[in-house]
Amino acid sequence: MKILYIGAGFVGACSAAVSADSGHEVLVYDIDNVKIKALGSQNLEEIENCLFEKGLGDIIIRNRQRIKFTSDYKEVESFFDEMDAVFMCLPTPEIGETGESDLSYYFDALNKMASKLVTRNQEQQTNYFIIINKSTVPVEMVLKTKEILTSYGVINFGVVSNPEFLVEGKAIEGSLKPDRIVIGAESEKDFEIARKIYQRFYDSPSVYYIEVNPKEAAAGKLLANFCLFNKLMVCFDVVGRTCESFKGIKFENIRKILSTDARIGEWGFYDSLYAGGSCFIKDSRSLSFQLKSVGKNTIFIDEVYSANKRQLNLLLDRAEIEAEVDWKDKKVAIFGLAFKRDTNDIRNSPALLIVQKLLDKEVGKIVLFDPAAVDNFKKVFPATEKIIYAESDEKAFENGVDIVIISTDWPQFRGLSKFLLQQTVKPIIIDGRRMLQHEYENLVKNGYKIIAVGSPFIM
Ligand SMILES: NC(=O)c1ccc[n+]([C@@H]2O[C@H](COP(=O)([O-])OP(=O)(O)OC[C@H]3O[C@@H](n4cnc5c(N)ncnc54)[C@H](O)[C@@H]3O)[C@@H](O)[C@H]2O)c1
Repeated sequence: MKILYIGAGFVGACSAAVSADSGHEVLVYDIDNVKIKALGSQNLEEIENCLFEKGLGDIIIRNRQRIKFTSDYKEVESFFDEMDAVFMCLPTPEIGETGESDLSYYFDALNKMASKLVTRNQEQQTNYFIIINKSTVPVEMVLKTKEILTSYGVINFGVVSNPEFLVEGKAIEGSLKPDRIVIGAESEKDFEIARKIYQRFYDSPSVYYIEVNPKEAAAGKLLANFCLFNKLMVCFDVVGRTCESFKGIKFENIRKILSTDARIGEWGFYDSLYAGGSCFIKDSRSLSFQLKSVGKNTIFIDEVYSANKRQLNLLLDRAEIEAEVDWKDKKVAIFGLAFKRDTNDIRNSPALLIVQKLLDKEVGKIVLFDPAAVDNFKKVFPATEKIIYAESDEKAFENGVDIVIISTDWPQFRGLSKFLLQQTVKPIIIDGRRMLQHEYENLVKNGYKIIAVGSPFIM
C-alpha cells in the first residue's frame, strides 16, 4: 500500500514507522522542517533528540527504503495519484480551559490537501483513497471531514476513523504488538482498504480487530481515555488519600490487595502528584464539552478533572502545612520534567505547573534535571539566573538544596537517596511518585523529612 502521513509527531512518526515495517511505502509530511530533517537523518541520536521514543530510531533506520520524510508539498502532491490512504495525525489540543478541541491544525492540513487533491490523476480523480482520522477528534468529525473535501470538489474517497491508543514511551512496542485495532468506516470498500493496511494484525490471533462505524470509533477513544483517567483519580484521590490519612497503612501493600483483584486489575495503581500528558486531560475535557453541548449533565466527568488538579495543589499545600515549608528564597531541585518516564514529552507535565507555582512563591533558585526532556522544557522555561538546568542528577545537588521534588517516575530516581544521604544540609523531600519509598525509613533515620503522595508526613 502507498500511505501518506500528515503530521510527524508522536503518533504520526511512530505509526508511519510501523507501517513501513509492515511493508508499505510511506511518505510522512510535516510543516516542521527541523523535525522532518531530524527524523529523516538516519542518525539514531538526531532522531532521539527530536522525538524520544524507545525503538523509533531503529525502526525508521531499518525501514529506510520504505519511509520518507518531507516538508515539501510538491512531493505530497505527486504521491496523491497512487496513494491508498492518508493518516491525519495532527494535534487537537484543548482551547484554553474550555474543553473544546482546537481543530485548526487539522482543518489547515485538510484544506490544503483538498485544494490539491482535485488535481490528482490529471484532474480525473480516478484514484480512490481513504482519509483516516488518527488524531483524537470530536465524535461527529467524519461528517465534517467529508463536507470539507466535497466543498472543494474532491471525489472518489472515503473517510475512516482509526483512533490511536498508543502509550508514550511504549509506542513502538505497543504498535508492533497492539491489543486491538479499531476501525470505524461506512462502507465495505473502506473496511477492505483498512484491512490491507493492517493485514499483519488482521491476520493475528492475538489482536482484537474491531470494525464499527466512525462515530463509535471516535467515541470509543474518548471514553477509553476517560475510563483510564477516572481510574487514576480513584488511585490518587481515594486510595492514596486514605493511605495519607491513617498512619501505618503502606500504599504499596494496599496496591497489592487491590490490583490482585481481577475485577479491579492492576493498571493505574501507582500514586502520583498529577496525571499529565497530551491525552487524558484534553480528551476528558472534550468529552465533557461535547456532552454539555447536547445538554447533558457532566458533573462526574468534571469532578474527575478537578481531582487531578486538586492532587498537585494538595501535595504542595501539605509541604507548607505539615512540613512548614516556606518557599520564599529557597533553592528547590526538581527531578523529572517529562510528564512521565521514557518520553521527552512535556505536555501537561506536573513540572510545568510546579515551576510556575514556585516562581509565584518567589523561591530563590530552581534547579531542574531530566534525562530526556530538558530541550523541550527549555522552550517553555529558558535557563535564567533563577532557573538552572543540571547536567546530571548528582550535579543537581551541587552547593546544596533546601527542597527536593520528584515529579517524574524515571527509574534512575530510585537511586536519588544515595546523593541525598551525602548532603550536609538535609533538604525536605517531596516525593510526588513514591520513587524513594524503599528508602523512607533509612532517610528518616538520617534526619530527613518526607512529604510523599500516599503517605502521611514522615519524620
Ligand atoms: N501522543 C499520544 O500519546 C497520543 C495518543 C493517542 C492519540 N493522540 C492524538 O493524536 C493526535 C496527534 O498527537 P501527537 O502526540 O502526535 O501530536 P504532536 O504535537 O506530537 O504532533 C503533531 C504534528 O503535527 C504537525 N503539524 C501541525 N500542523 C500541521 C499541518 N498543517 N500540516 C502538517 N503537519 C502539521 C506538527 O508540526 C507536529 O509535528 C492528537 O489528536 C492526539 O490527541 C496522541
